Amino acid sequence: MDTYTVHLAMAALVGASLVAVSAYYMHRKTLSQLLEFAKTVEREREDISEGESLQHSMKRRGQLSRRKGNGYYRRGSASLPDVTVISGVIDGEEKRNGPIHVDGIPAGLPRLHTLHEGKSGGRGTPVKRSASLIRPTTPKSPSASAFESIEGSDDEDDIIDNSKLDDTYLHTNGNAGPNLPDRSNANGEAIQIAASSMIRTHSISGDLHGVQPDPIAADILRKEPEHENFARLKISPSEVPSPDEVEVYVVLQECLEMRKRYVFKEAVAPWEKEVISDPSTPKPNPNPFFYASEGKSDKFNLHLMLNVDKEFLAQKSAPHRDFYNVRKVDTHVHHSACMNQKHLLRFIKSKLRKEPDEVVIFRDGTYLTLKEVFESLDLTGYDLNVDLLDVHADKSTFHRFDKFNLKYNPCGQSRLREIFLKQDNLIQGRFLGEVTKQVFSDLAASKYQMAEYRISIYGRKQSEWDQMASWIVNNELYSENVVWLIQIPRLYNVYKEMGIVTSFQNILDNIFIPLFEVTVDPDSHPQLHVFLKQIVGLDLVDDESKPERRPTKHMPTPDQWTNVFNPAFSYYAYYCYANLYTLNKLRESKGMTTIKFRPHSGEAGDIDHLATTFLTAHNIAHGINLRKSPVLQYLYYLAQIGLAMSPLSNNSLFLDYHRNPFPMFFLRGLNVSLSTDDPLQIHLTKEPLVEEYSVAASVWKLSSCDLCEIARNSVYQSGFSHALKSHWIGTEYYKRGPAGNNIHRTNVPHIRLEFRDRIWREEMQLVYLGKAIIPEEVDK
Ligand SMILES: *[C@@H]1O[C@H](CO)[C@@H](O)[C@H](O)[C@H]1NC(C)=O
Ligand SMILES: [Zn+2]
Repeated sequence: MDTYTVHLAMAALVGASLVAVSAYYMHRKTLSQLLEFAKTVEREREDISEGESLQHSMKRRGQLSRRKGNGYYRRGSASLPDVTVISGVIDGEEKRNGPIHVDGIPAGLPRLHTLHEGKSGGRGTPVKRSASLIRPTTPKSPSASAFESIEGSDDEDDIIDNSKLDDTYLHTNGNAGPNLPDRSNANGEAIQIAASSMIRTHSISGDLHGVQPDPIAADILRKEPEHENFARLKISPSEVPSPDEVEVYVVLQECLEMRKRYVFKEAVAPWEKEVISDPSTPKPNPNPFFYASEGKSDKFNLHLMLNVDKEFLAQKSAPHRDFYNVRKVDTHVHHSACMNQKHLLRFIKSKLRKEPDEVVIFRDGTYLTLKEVFESLDLTGYDLNVDLLDVHADKSTFHRFDKFNLKYNPCGQSRLREIFLKQDNLIQGRFLGEVTKQVFSDLAASKYQMAEYRISIYGRKQSEWDQMASWIVNNELYSENVVWLIQIPRLYNVYKEMGIVTSFQNILDNIFIPLFEVTVDPDSHPQLHVFLKQIVGLDLVDDESKPERRPTKHMPTPDQWTNVFNPAFSYYAYYCYANLYTLNKLRESKGMTTIKFRPHSGEAGDIDHLATTFLTAHNIAHGINLRKSPVLQYLYYLAQIGLAMSPLSNNSLFLDYHRNPFPMFFLRGLNVSLSTDDPLQIHLTKEPLVEEYSVAASVWKLSSCDLCEIARNSVYQSGFSHALKSHWIGTEYYKRGPAGNNIHRTNVPHIRLEFRDRIWREEMQLVYLGKAIIPEEVDK
């Protein structure tokens, strides 16, 4: 149990380090800092001329830190005061408790590296040197306030401020080296601005409308693939980073390595287990790029400026495919709200017409038929309309999650919800099963739309699993277009108050014991065994904006957690992650499917939710709070963690559409997909996923190429089988960059993927100081 505490402490440490690093980036913004840099450069040059090449000194530095134990990096520089303070605290803790053993972690989980006292001396010289060279010009703020200042400015500040902030970070990131002053020449800026504003209008008008069948285009179409002659961005040889930059990179490296050690990965990748023989292979990656980078955000627009026509032609050259018939997965949608209002209304009316005498509910000591229920509500089928249903989110739900959940009662009546939207009611969820089947057949009819429905297990009793499985099996809820995720509401405090559970461990037991039982012996729960084959993920849900007590290292273990308070997000996340990790190891060893941890995170609330899920989650839903933390955003980018974002949904709850960071994340190359979240409350049309894409396309001027790229991401992020992914996006989809693309399936030009891959590799090499080892396959 102690070990768990250690893990949590580590998570906290990472969070704190990130705070410190981001504070560090803030410092770098100031002009005086630039001057400092200039001076630094001077002195570096002197150093070099003194005979010790910087390259060499860096190498020695690397050896030093490696020698210090498994690559764990002890920060001693004056420029990162916060981290030092925090690591000091941990050292103290360690002394008190003696060496920490990590025996309790699941098999296969790498040991955590803890900091050791008194080892910083080894780096004395370089530290002193960098400290004397670069001193932060802003006061050293305590780590928390660095975020608060951003957070505080969050809601009311205008978006321009945000983007300015992030831009600086991004520019700094690549180019803060010796030549930073040169880069900020007015000329370059002007070009960038022109590019970003010009390119969009140009590309859109060129794309969607004025396309005539002109002979030249047709000629190009007949010619060889587009990537033979597209304009590549030239990339300059990277600058030698300053010692302080190196320190920052090493911290980032450590974060990425920690994630690698934590997150569950199958020992044998699906594509190694299962060979799919299909002759059509995408073209291999041709030549490398040559030169120079502008600021990172602008690279995408620059790429568009150079290549948008070629991308467009490439798309046209892929016969048959267009946005409508590329596969897209709704990566985040709650099953209980998966039908649209009109659909639900039609269903209720038809039930009232066809089965008025069905006994549907037991209330106040009597059994009521459907007709009687409506009489008790003083409603007839004719009266019912969508407005009366009143499940739609409106202005009153903005920022009020509690009201949002209230909305989820049709006609404001929990009776109708009980009858139509519950699976454990008097009619054993038959109505919900039927309406679900209708949704399935709508999906099947659309053919190119898939969905991952999230359905709740509460953890109040162990039999929930069997109930759910038998509901699925008895109603024959199966579709080639659908897989399931389990969502666990974070409601310990509610159950505790009601006396349903005594400790947090009860909930964990109720959730995980049946899963272990059925994995060990499928005969023990045959229906659950069958259902589990369709379950691809585990989710955590609740209102993240609820105030929570921050996790500390003195938290009780789950069986000692008997107080009335709800544990923090990170506490839930850690224990779900850890149990799932062990379960997955077991399932994999028995040749069964595994279940990925894919929680809601970063929709609202504290930024440490995102630090926690960085370490533990396969991918997350929302992530909009990444806009508040440049460093975490950068880490999510480097690790290419999937974000299933739902801008329309967030529009009604937490963030206005036009301020949603989706377009910025997409531009920067984060692994984003679009999802609907709650069609019943949010969407108006029969195809909510297309509605989501369509609104995004018109508000943010996304081209057809952009939409297809997002759709491709959604297939990656989904939990569908290897065989289906191969069929949908190409047999080599698991390879990085253009090699993994099949334009005939995805309608995404190689150019686009080569660009993304190129930029990502550069950033990785930057952070790993040119020594990044990048496997040819994703998720490796
Ligand atoms: C995007 O994220 C998913 C997981 O969410 C991952 O499987 C996939 O490989 C990622 N895409 C890339 C290009 O890394
Ligand atoms: Zn959601």
